[in-house]
Amino acid sequence: MTKINKVAVIGTGVIGAGWIIRCLAHNKIVYAYDKDLKLKKNLIAEIKRTWPYVKKLFNKKSLNLKNFKYFTSIEEALRNADFVQECASENYALKTKLMSRIGKYAKPNAIISSSSSGLLPTKIYSKCKNPERAMIGHPFNPVYLLPAVEIVPGKKTSKKYLNKSKNFYKSISMNPIMVKHELPGYLSDRLQEALWREGLHIINEGHATTKDLDRAIEDGPGLRWSLMGTFLTFHLAGGKAGMRHMLEQFGPALKLPWTKLKAPKLSNKLINRLVEGTKKQSKGKSVTKISNFRDEYLVELQKLRKKYEKKLR
Ligand SMILES: NC(=O)c1ccc[n+]([C@@H]2O[C@H](COP(=O)([O-])OP(=O)(O)OC[C@H]3O[C@@H](n4cnc5c(N)ncnc54)[C@H](O)[C@@H]3O)[C@@H](O)[C@H]2O)c1
Repeated sequence: MTKINKVAVIGTGVIGAGWIIRCLAHNKIVYAYDKDLKLKKNLIAEIKRTWPYVKKLFNKKSLNLKNFKYFTSIEEALRNADFVQECASENYALKTKLMSRIGKYAKPNAIISSSSSGLLPTKIYSKCKNPERAMIGHPFNPVYLLPAVEIVPGKKTSKKYLNKSKNFYKSISMNPIMVKHELPGYLSDRLQEALWREGLHIINEGHATTKDLDRAIEDGPGLRWSLMGTFLTFHLAGGKAGMRHMLEQFGPALKLPWTKLKAPKLSNKLINRLVEGTKKQSKGKSVTKISNFRDEYLVELQKLRKKYEKKLR
């Protein structure tokens, strides 16, 4: 399989800059374009600011800016690219129009990926002439450091291009999450959005400040979340019996008016999915064994966190 080396980044704001830096750190040739040509200067400054961190994370020696070209027209930026990462503002009308242009000027076999945070790919590629090689590649800020990317297919996206895209993202040290099919908000933002909405309710009703709510995450769930997600965390919350016991104990709370979001009915089908899913994630390890890993990790993480907390507060 031929390796993708030439990447066009369209839109060089926060996220576009992040992709550019990550790609340069992995020796890709990057062609950039933004309708706001003034951004070039900021971008070079941002590449230089972030380089020490990127260098440390990926064990790189030097930054090769010769691999980076900023173009004043989208046609030129797309001409030689094998992979297009679109990072323009989050708006259906804007992206649909832009994707039609990208489809027109990109190489016939180039892959087109959008950084959108939650728009449906079938909709934004509805006027693009090659939707079979188009998808979402949703990253997380800062893109140059965080490894997650959600790959979301549209109704017409072909498996072949999803796989190629997965390999490309892996080649820049990312861990792609293959989303089965399109849904508004995809996966991660949908979870974050639930927390965000709940936080807004709490603040709106005067129960807490934003600081209180941030601390409620930072000192508790947040520390655990950097190692394991909600489901495996709750599997451990059930003690040795794991998820099943957790659901017996805390399942009824889903009926209490704790949140403003409507929870799904805890049907047998859902219980089995949760129990089986966490069992699979545990890979045969007991709750005690995973708890030990978690505890060891939390001690180390907090030592590290202390060092950085001073700089933050
Ligand atoms: N900011 C985040 O935390 C985050 C995280 C993940 C994904 N995203 C997604 O990434 C995309 C970009 O977001 P951002 O935060 O970088 O926004 P931003 O406002 O920082 O940058 C958007 C850039 O797009 C440019 N642009 C607008 N229309 C254009 C066009 N037709 N052609 C070329 N450039 C154009 C603008 O000039 C601007 O520089 C959005 O789809 C957003 O949902 C953002």
